[in-house]
Amino acid sequence: MKNIVILASGSGSNAENIIGYFRKKNILHQFHIITNKKDAFVLERAKKLGVTAEIITKKQNDEGVLEKRLLELNPDLIVLAGYLLLFPAGIVQQFPNKIINIHPALLPKYGGKGMYGSFVHEAVVANNETETGISIHYVSELYDEGAVIFQAKTSVAENDTPDDVAQKVHQLEYEHFPKVIEKLLSD
Ligand code: GAR
Repeated sequence: MKNIVILASGSGSNAENIIGYFRKKNILHQFHIITNKKDAFVLERAKKLGVTAEIITKKQNDEGVLEKRLLELNPDLIVLAGYLLLFPAGIVQQFPNKIINIHPALLPKYGGKGMYGSFVHEAVVANNETETGISIHYVSELYDEGAVIFQAKTSVAENDTPDDVAQKVHQLEYEHFPKVIEKLLSD
């Protein structure tokens, strides 16, 4: 059994999918969810799943609360699944190669500050890209710049809207993110 902390800022559909994946396989990892938003829907999902969850705001991050809490929890893996704050540099140094993030594009394209969620898909459509995808990478002190662990692609059709692209990308995320986590935990 491993101890996994998932951080999410919004809906949390990836968080739910990851937890569901391991439960379906009867792999009894311990999950804990942290969000920076008091009204994040991921809190509802945690309740429904019977998973512990807590709120640690951006201000508290700046005061070192997140770092202290993560050291207490001592996770085997920290998973950023739609967590939209820059991860505090101090924490990155405390957990070398134990923090991963999923980004909804083929990094290094469409990464960096301000490039998240629907903004990424809008930019992909505006630039007439013919393909996009997902990147799972280690977290470094800079937005979306840590070493890439895994990428998968999907096509973008000429008449796809940003919502269509978002749906395709989410499907890739649901398919691959849990498997990449499983592999990392077994290495
Ligand atoms: C996901 O598509 C994830 O790749 C993206 O936010 C979405 C969260 O969805 N993350 C980023 O943009 C990080 N830069 P979810 O809350 O339904 O899992």
